[in-house]
Amino acid sequence: MSRIFTRSRRYIQLTGELRRQRSLRELSPALGRSFASASALFKARSDSWPQDVGILALEVYFPSQYVEQQELEKYDGVDAGKYTVGLGQTRMGFCSDREDINSLCLTVVQRLMERNNLQGSSIGRLEVGTETIIDKSKAVKTVLMQLFEDSGNTDIEGIDTTNACYGGTASLFNAANWVESSSWDGRYALVVCGDIAVYATGSARPTGGAGAVAMLVGPNAPLTLERGLRGTHMQHAYDFYKPDLSSEYPVVDGKLSIECYFSALDQCYSVYRRKFSEQRQGDGVSDLLTLNDFQHMVFHTPFCKLVQKSFARLMLNDFLSDPNANTESGLYQGLQAFRNVKLAETYSNKEVEKAFLKASQGIFNQKTKPSLLLSTQNGNMYTPSVYGCLASVLSQYSAQQLADTRIGAFSYGSGLAASMFSFRVSPNTAPDSPLTQLLSSLSDLPERLESRKPVKPDDFANIMKLKEETHHLANYTPQGTVSDLFPGTWYLTRVDEKYRRSYSRYQPNK
Ligand code: ACO
Repeated sequence: MSRIFTRSRRYIQLTGELRRQRSLRELSPALGRSFASASALFKARSDSWPQDVGILALEVYFPSQYVEQQELEKYDGVDAGKYTVGLGQTRMGFCSDREDINSLCLTVVQRLMERNNLQGSSIGRLEVGTETIIDKSKAVKTVLMQLFEDSGNTDIEGIDTTNACYGGTASLFNAANWVESSSWDGRYALVVCGDIAVYATGSARPTGGAGAVAMLVGPNAPLTLERGLRGTHMQHAYDFYKPDLSSEYPVVDGKLSIECYFSALDQCYSVYRRKFSEQRQGDGVSDLLTLNDFQHMVFHTPFCKLVQKSFARLMLNDFLSDPNANTESGLYQGLQAFRNVKLAETYSNKEVEKAFLKASQGIFNQKTKPSLLLSTQNGNMYTPSVYGCLASVLSQYSAQQLADTRIGAFSYGSGLAASMFSFRVSPNTAPDSPLTQLLSSLSDLPERLESRKPVKPDDFANIMKLKEETHHLANYTPQGTVSDLFPGTWYLTRVDEKYRRSYSRYQPNK
């Protein structure tokens, strides 16, 4: 049975390659920042299967203000280093009452459309992943349709998806599946993930954040979602959830959420590795996948220290699955004592954690640390978190450095839903290639982070309190200062007596 499957997969790969050559020939003149018109794509699609489906363009939005974690430690009266070293967080972005989930998504989508000269008519699907629910019925997606009114395009599939921090990944998979399906009409898909991550006062508060990411999905992408390489784990758990619909805050069992995250990571890695091995066997190679097969690895990042521990855990997985691993020298030197540990018994084993953190430090610095730029500076954005890590990688490397590499991704949403998957980076590094243009569009990320405004912890606490008291009100006019926003940001102007929300765009130079 599996041999038949392998053979048919090989056939798909071969015929797929022929189709890819043809579709590349047809589409290549239209690639670049000015994306191909929908009709050009549709023509290409009519006699060729879309190839290299993935991310063509990516846009990140984060709030223009932040609080220093070091100052928050003092303000909260905890030991110095608890948030900055213990959790690995430097700054935390947050929104005033001027921004909500609709405005975050309006901002990031409009920015993506404008910066890539995208016509409204070129989008055939728009999906939103969020857990920031401000309406139990009306989707964020329908609010975003205002951005397409001028184009007259209302033929846009897709709606909101919710499960904690996983909704963005579900949306990305839906979008890529649509492009690869018989339903595809040749147009692009747009994936939007956005959230405002806020916690009640207490130990979870420093792990908040806010932001949104928009991704343009289509064929011939510089970041291709690798086909057949998705390891998913879903399970019932009450680790983090939002049962109180009148509150913005979740109910969190912090320790359980970390255990759930680690166990989902183990499970997803195991499934991903199995699928990877099956594909490799088809190509005549029998080695098990290890961290060596990823040049970069990005993770959903609730806080940066958890990601470093997760990376160390993947190394533990590699070690345990290789009975012949050399512990005399090299990567696993000195780890012999852990040869017989059971993965499921190590979630809170500090000895194992410490040993593998130390052993993996060097490769963590190479493969994952650069991805934490946005997370350490802005905090947990929830659904966009893992895509913010991807953007961080893309903002710090050249096309030559990234060409033809594999970027692994682990997405986790409490409750719980998790997947491991991977992107293959295009080998085309020409100055006008889609890869070069994608990277250059993100190269100002560090500069944009630096241009934010610092806010003192007591002002931050007052803003949180105001939001607690007003976020659910009808007949409400927000009080936050509009001129503090980044130019081009959409903001909430009013919630009327029927809870209908109105927005405006901050354009100081117009
Ligand atoms: N200097 C250096 N490190 C310190 C210091 C200090 N002065 N004080 C404490 N630390 C370390 C601790 O040793 C600990 O590190 P360790 O876990 O490696 O031992 C770390 O700082 C955190 O300290 P704790 O006392 O364990 O933290 P606390 O219980 O107060 O809360 C938690 C941490 C559970 C992460 C909390 O912030 C939380 O609930 N966050 C939200 C839930 C979450 O993010 N879960 C992750 C997955 S689900 C999701 O994405 C939402």
